[in-house]
Amino acid sequence: MRILSKSGDEIKIIAMPNEKVDRGEYLLIEDETSGNKILTQIYEVSYLDPTGIDEEILRDEVFSSEKITHIDPNNVSSLLTMIKDARLLKGKIRGSIVDSRFTNEIIWLPSRVFSTIKKVSFSEINKYLAKNLKFPVEIGTTSLGEKFYVDASDLDGSLTIITGKKESGKSHLAKLLLSELVKLGAYVFVFDLNNEYNGMMYDKSNNFSDIYNRIVVLEPGNNLVFTLKYIGKRVFTEILTHALDTPAITVREFLKIWDSMNEESDVSIRNLYTKILEYKNNEMVKEALISRYYSIVASKLFANSEYVNFDIKNNISLKPNGAAFVMEMAKVSPLARRMLVQIILSKLINLLEENQIPPVFMFAEEAHLYFDQTYWEDAITRMRHFGIYVTFITNQPDSLDPTVYRQADNIFLFNFINEKDLEMISQASTADSETVKNLVRSLPQKKCLVIGRVVNNLPFLVSVKEVNYKTLGTTKRFFDIKKEIEKVK
Ligand SMILES: Nc1ncnc2c1ncn2[C@@H]1O[C@H](COP(=O)(O)OP(=O)(O)OP(=O)(O)O)[C@@H](O)[C@H]1O
Ligand SMILES: [Mg+2]
Repeated sequence: MRILSKSGDEIKIIAMPNEKVDRGEYLLIEDETSGNKILTQIYEVSYLDPTGIDEEILRDEVFSSEKITHIDPNNVSSLLTMIKDARLLKGKIRGSIVDSRFTNEIIWLPSRVFSTIKKVSFSEINKYLAKNLKFPVEIGTTSLGEKFYVDASDLDGSLTIITGKKESGKSHLAKLLLSELVKLGAYVFVFDLNNEYNGMMYDKSNNFSDIYNRIVVLEPGNNLVFTLKYIGKRVFTEILTHALDTPAITVREFLKIWDSMNEESDVSIRNLYTKILEYKNNEMVKEALISRYYSIVASKLFANSEYVNFDIKNNISLKPNGAAFVMEMAKVSPLARRMLVQIILSKLINLLEENQIPPVFMFAEEAHLYFDQTYWEDAITRMRHFGIYVTFITNQPDSLDPTVYRQADNIFLFNFINEKDLEMISQASTADSETVKNLVRSLPQKKCLVIGRVVNNLPFLVSVKEVNYKTLGTTKRFFDIKKEIEKVK
């Protein structure tokens, strides 16, 4: 391999046909004269159309290539094949290695003539980064076939996004990360839209999995209900305002009612109804109160009895070694979903403010289906401040605002075919857009580009590994189901 040109952080390299380099791979360019090293990542591989100086360098490279010494010098056709098949590698310079340590700066120009170029592995890069993995989580393999790890502590305190087209492997990766966090003793709240995370209680042979005891499956209306007293006045107000779009006048009346229930020491759904019926001031307000009351009841999220109340703090203390609280939302109405998310978020923030629980992780599948974009943007900054670390999982990248991408610490990008999605992601992510566009466009299923803090801002292509949990949540297909029915007959 030989350097062709360098301009800014862009570098072009010529590679002979036998020097196979794939997109996404890292190369180390060592300047023999100075001993300096440059780390570069290849984002595009194409054929070379040599002209002028390119041709000169190419000819040089062909004749200096070791293989050529064994070839009959008159074997012109083989030379021509090499020239025709030479590759042009386009790369981004990520930094340099000075005194065996990685730095982002490159203040020198490598020698075109006296530089050697070789592939560099993930483990070697980690050595230059002096990165000691405190809580290693194996995610899969790199293109050189090495095991690829991230540090769970880089997910801690972070905003993470997992995105890609349908069935590319997003939820699979989310489950992999979740299982490792839980094994490390973390608490994770999952908004599960397909009721698929409960499969993690079992392995592929239907035996109990290694985290069977740490998965708490919560079904709204069944074992996930709350008393009004538990959720409290502040959270109740937030539900009215954000989830039920209640006008300010009506919210005020609700709060007056709340205060009078409080005086009677009977803050409950039952008493709320009695009080609304007694309300006489304004017919319009009364109607609004009643309609909100019916939405609250219809959500099935509220109960009168304290025995059935889902107490977050108690549930956390029942699982001293970590747990995932999986909230199954597939059968829940859109309005009840919004209410539930509001309750959980507000309640978690209350508990965290009062230092009653440790920081928690939250996995949100297709968040746009239960929260306004505008709300998330505000909530993300606040949530991180309080100690709620969110992972968004979505197949609609434009459902999250570009500002959310810019705030993201980690992004796991699976394949996109849609140019619009690709454009949007490449503009919004912290990695450069050439890398994102070129690497993500051709990704096969189960492979992703990892960007951000977990990879020290050195993007990596990773084939995500298999996990031994029962797979649920695959798209139901008419012909598969028909086959099953026929088998039973
Ligand atoms: N790394 C992997 N190894 C083995 N199987 C995988 C892997 N990634 C995904 N799968 C399987 O591929 C299928 C689709 O994956 P997954 O459900 O994660 O996709 P998704 O991107 O979440 O799709 P959707 O957008 O529909 O939610 C699942 O059956 C899953 O078990
Ligand atoms: Mg999914």
